[in-house]
Amino acid sequence: MGPFMVQCKGHKILIVGLIFLVWIIYFKMSWPDSIIPWPPAPHPASKSASKSTESPSLLESLPQELANLTHLLYWPLTPGDKEDFLASTSPQASTYHLRGPAQASYALGGYLEAILLARDHRGRPKTHGGDLFRAQLLGPNLKAGVPGDVQDLENGTYLLSFPLLWAGKAQVQVRLIHSSEAVGVLQRIWREKKATVDFKGYFRGPTGDEETVICNVDPQSTGTRGPTCQYRDVDSGELWFCAQPPTLPCNSLVGHSSGRYLKVTTPHDEALLAWKVTDKVLPQGISPIQIRMAAPGNSNLALSPRPPCRPGLPARKPSGFYHQEVWHSLSCSSRSFSTVDSILGCLAGHVVHMIGDSTLRQWWEYLQYTVPSLKPMDLHATYQTGPLMAVETTRNIVLHWRAHSWPLRSLRTPVASLHSVARELGGLAGGPHTVVVLGLGAHFTTFPPTIFARRLAGIRAAVAALLAREPHTLVVIKLANTGYKSVYGSDWFTLQLNRLLRAAFADLRVAFVEAWEMTSSLAVPDNIHPGRLIVRNEVDFLLSFVCPT
Ligand SMILES: *[C@@H]1O[C@H](CO)[C@@H](O)[C@H](O)[C@H]1NC(C)=O
Ligand SMILES: *[C@@H]1O[C@H](CO)[C@@H](O)[C@H](O)[C@H]1NC(C)=O
Repeated sequence: MGPFMVQCKGHKILIVGLIFLVWIIYFKMSWPDSIIPWPPAPHPASKSASKSTESPSLLESLPQELANLTHLLYWPLTPGDKEDFLASTSPQASTYHLRGPAQASYALGGYLEAILLARDHRGRPKTHGGDLFRAQLLGPNLKAGVPGDVQDLENGTYLLSFPLLWAGKAQVQVRLIHSSEAVGVLQRIWREKKATVDFKGYFRGPTGDEETVICNVDPQSTGTRGPTCQYRDVDSGELWFCAQPPTLPCNSLVGHSSGRYLKVTTPHDEALLAWKVTDKVLPQGISPIQIRMAAPGNSNLALSPRPPCRPGLPARKPSGFYHQEVWHSLSCSSRSFSTVDSILGCLAGHVVHMIGDSTLRQWWEYLQYTVPSLKPMDLHATYQTGPLMAVETTRNIVLHWRAHSWPLRSLRTPVASLHSVARELGGLAGGPHTVVVLGLGAHFTTFPPTIFARRLAGIRAAVAALLAREPHTLVVIKLANTGYKSVYGSDWFTLQLNRLLRAAFADLRVAFVEAWEMTSSLAVPDNIHPGRLIVRNEVDFLLSFVCPT
């Protein structure tokens, strides 16, 4: 079984633990300081399998940065009649207008401010906040765009603010992603359901006979009332459970795949999340504006001098903007790598380890397609979950990608090649030629946020240990991007998970790639697998940290 400790046991302690955690988050309690646990001290990676009878301590793994989930995941409550669809926020009836008088033109480097009034389907003003609006300032003929800031005043009014970063035409666009009532559905599901999907585990006996059972992040969600098999990652303590197969032993688990999407919504929930009211553009409230440069001949972009891109930079809001299809970071001098030679020159002598989901695999694919001499070595790999490798022998470049482990939704994949992120990081020496890129989030929207928080706690400890043994290792975190709008995967979930990602790594010397903002700035439809233009900019930003000057 490689990296897992296997045990078959009852699960009373775990049930109590999970209920306790959920109770803590949703009833606005916090742990007293005295029991906020510190991250476990780094320990050498151990890959041996052994039987364990100790009960898992769920609380031991949440470091202080992640312990106050109530605070980190704060979102206004949605009061009112939960069954009255017409009382939910309407994208058609909600309006926005300029905060001040309209001007003939606006100064580059300034701000445009607007006020948004949310209304329900009867046209009545909303009196509480919690709607998920997304605002953009677009420069369509300049292929420009920047996310606007949306401040929820929690009384049905929202303040919008857009930095004016390029000279020329610009146009505000506001979308209602989910009404506050739809967010309420998502919140309830996170609170009440331990999982909205399940998985399959494939066991193989000595004669090749197979048994298939349901697996999940907690014992109850394996659908069995009988005993379960528990798999505990030796390096990180991460847990996974399968129903015990009818005859085969727990340690004969060889395969993993996604299972079903579970039915978790009522018809009323579905009405609130229906396409008719989801991700809908509000009626135009502000005429296109003209942004003028300070003096003729000056720069047409409002970019003050920025430091080279290095890990540990303070976050900016917004983190950047597009102009002529190029993403300009506002926190550091991001660079473009538009030729094959510039990419090769930057990556020369580096080993890049990408560990994450398919949105990160897009980076690997982009590099491998863009640079013909970067040869993929994945002939025998199961493509979907990897591990993938590409090499460039004349420049000494190695590019790895592998899927993060459970709870990956995938076609059937060997369990042996599903390594936990913590385990992979524990096996890296690190150093100035090592680049680690992590990209997680999309597969964690289907469980309560504690599951992701606990996973991040283990990864955080592994990153801290890696940076402690080799401080010159470059660690880059790709935040989760926009895309899904359903009860299983929604931008609202992703927004929340990104808060956990930021918090988990905030005080470590890592770099962030703001994929959320990079996928919410242009007038292109949201896609969980963004188009080439966006992936190119994400990879260019990664390369800006590898080669800051
Ligand atoms: C957790 O967050 C809540 C809400 O912001 C706050 O009132 C509380 O003091 C925080 N608890 C700790 C232990 O930081
Ligand atoms: C909403 O709250 C803001 C800030 O407290 C206030 O200025 C505004 O008048 C309020 N709007 C309504 C409609 O109550």
